[in-house]
Amino acid sequence: MDSIAYPPRLSLARLSTPLQPLDRLSEQLGGPRIWVKRDDLTDCAVSGNKIRKLEFSLARALEQGCDTLITCGGLQSNHCRATALLGAQLGLKVHLILRNEGTVDGVANNLDAAIPEGNLFLDYLAGANVSRYDKKEFQRNLPALFEHWTQYYQAQGNKAYSIPTGASDGTGVWGYVHCIPELTTDFEAAGIKPQTIIHATGSGGTQAGLSAGVALYNFDATVLGIAVCDNADYFQNKVRADIIAWQSLYSIPLDPQAIPVHVDDRFVGPGYAQADEAVFTVIRELAALEGLILDPVYTGKAFHGMIEKIRQGEFAGQSDIVFVHTGGIFGLLAQRDFLKPQVS
Ligand SMILES: Cc1ncc(COP(=O)(O)O)c(C=O)c1O
Repeated sequence: MDSIAYPPRLSLARLSTPLQPLDRLSEQLGGPRIWVKRDDLTDCAVSGNKIRKLEFSLARALEQGCDTLITCGGLQSNHCRATALLGAQLGLKVHLILRNEGTVDGVANNLDAAIPEGNLFLDYLAGANVSRYDKKEFQRNLPALFEHWTQYYQAQGNKAYSIPTGASDGTGVWGYVHCIPELTTDFEAAGIKPQTIIHATGSGGTQAGLSAGVALYNFDATVLGIAVCDNADYFQNKVRADIIAWQSLYSIPLDPQAIPVHVDDRFVGPGYAQADEAVFTVIRELAALEGLILDPVYTGKAFHGMIEKIRQGEFAGQSDIVFVHTGGIFGLLAQRDFLKPQVS
């Protein structure tokens, strides 16, 4: 069925994930029918998009004889939580290099809470070794921190495999290339031909995989990333860099420059992991209307962006669009104070 020469992959995620329509919301908005690819259901605690990329990254780590994983991210990184849990599942040591987020306008935001919350709580529960760094030090010294911990484990007789932020690199790209045949089957089963696939872009690997996969499989749809941090220029470069790394590492017969990369950066709001009230409103309303849970760091921002774009008529003439739900529920729990749910 699939003539693409995939590299080794560990079967870790619960695939394929469901594709489900949001009919009440679609009717309310009066736009295209919105479908959700439920990648929040790739696992229970390992929920989300990272497991798809890690299926390939961890296969490569094992192939190279590594017994330790080192990766990095924000304090509430979904990727780090997924790596911590999958490392435990595979009997590998895991070391997480985490960035303290500081405060927002002088107000503590739960993200740096002394008692671990959300993803960080699960990192500790999974037995990961955690090193937390001040934001400035993390940004300035990340390669040196990876090197330091690699040497540390080497001195103990271990061999470490380094995974970059979000597992977004040439190997991680395969995760969402691999999702394209799954979407093809989903669309055939539902009898639809969506022209747009929308998702949150944070470190670029999901977008790189979907964009490369669409080109590789001659799939007739536009992949649109909604940035949750940084700007469109940054992601154009980052996504293309991941695609180029993938293409050259695996000798893929495609011109990476010919692959379109579409990013909308109008919905970043105050900054990474900081959402404005409009995003929290979308999270509250969607939970009540459709029973679908989004998070304020990634999926809530992207979903808010998609709704605004529908309202602005950007998908006029399209009958179906797909939102890839990339997970993030534990990040929502870490920001619960901002949600103020109505308790009657
Ligand atoms: C829940 C969630 N959604 C979306 C993203 C963005 O994916 P990517 O990092 O591949 O751009 C991430 C991670 O950054 C995430 O944790």
